Amino acid sequence: MAGLTSSDLRDLLSFTTALARKAGAVILEGSRAIQSASASDIGEKKNSVDLVTEYDVKVEELVKREIKDAYPEFQFIGEESYSAGSRAPLTDAPTFCVDPIDGTTNFVHAFPFACISIGLIDQRRPVLGVIYNPFLDHLYTGVSGQGSFLSRSGGPPERLPLGGPARPLPALSQALVAIEWGSDRKAPAITQKADSFTRLAGDPAGGVAGGRMAHSLRSLGSAALNFAMVAQGGLDMYWEIGCWPWDVCAGIVIAQEAGGFVTGSKDAPHDGNVTEAILTGRKYLVVRGIAGSEGETSLAAQQRIAREFYDTVEDVPLDG
Ligand code: IPD
Ligand code: CA
Repeated sequence: MAGLTSSDLRDLLSFTTALARKAGAVILEGSRAIQSASASDIGEKKNSVDLVTEYDVKVEELVKREIKDAYPEFQFIGEESYSAGSRAPLTDAPTFCVDPIDGTTNFVHAFPFACISIGLIDQRRPVLGVIYNPFLDHLYTGVSGQGSFLSRSGGPPERLPLGGPARPLPALSQALVAIEWGSDRKAPAITQKADSFTRLAGDPAGGVAGGRMAHSLRSLGSAALNFAMVAQGGLDMYWEIGCWPWDVCAGIVIAQEAGGFVTGSKDAPHDGNVTEAILTGRKYLVVRGIAGSEGETSLAAQQRIAREFYDTVEDVPLDG
């Protein structure tokens, strides 16, 4: 089956953008309701830090319904449908990959970094992404081969990365790195993550063995918004083990179209090609566009930083 054309993708972008804004309105309404209701409305999935609310489900139902009406032949993968047992394997067909609320913990705590993330996969590769944070009215979009953009407060789309061509990044020690604790808090995962964070931030001259003393570490609490912030240029890189394709699908396209480099685990081929294995592998590293220099292309600079990164952190096991 032939893939989607550039013109199909342009139409799909208008549809997906309008849908994300509609979903954003429900997320805002949900936030107001949650802040005035009792904590008992908040459910737990895998454990007490893996949260779900009726709004995660409500937003996913809305998005799924509208997609079904507009594109009945497309496949659908969604976080809440997956949790409810809908786990069809990925095929070559166009497939929406949706997280109705990414950053549910932030949503519950009224920390204004939560979003709807709508990705589209075609021929098993992410080809379109829309991420909308309704709290800040930040809309990120990306289409394969057509660039990525940020529209703030309904303003005109600004090409990513903001501020023009990519800047250099000489070493990990000069990076602002996003990391996340994730929801697996059992040893050894939590210990290996904490040890990795210590080496990323720690001072080797001050006794931290293997320390890189990166500029600092950040957690936005949403994988999608971490990807978007790397695309924007506000973060130099983001690493997470344990999140899911719906958390990252849209962000992958937005980051790649901004010149970002996306790869999987330490052992994945680090060629910037996001294969099905990387998309579904639940281990992700994204590095922003880096200016090339004489003797080093932009891709080679990103691969160098990725290697330095993976020499620093541990390959934390997945918890299933
Ligand atoms: C989570 C967020 C969080 C990340 C977790 C995700 P959710 O998604 O993206 O930043 O650390 O791995 O599962 O549960 O808010 O949709
Ligand atoms: Ca979610």
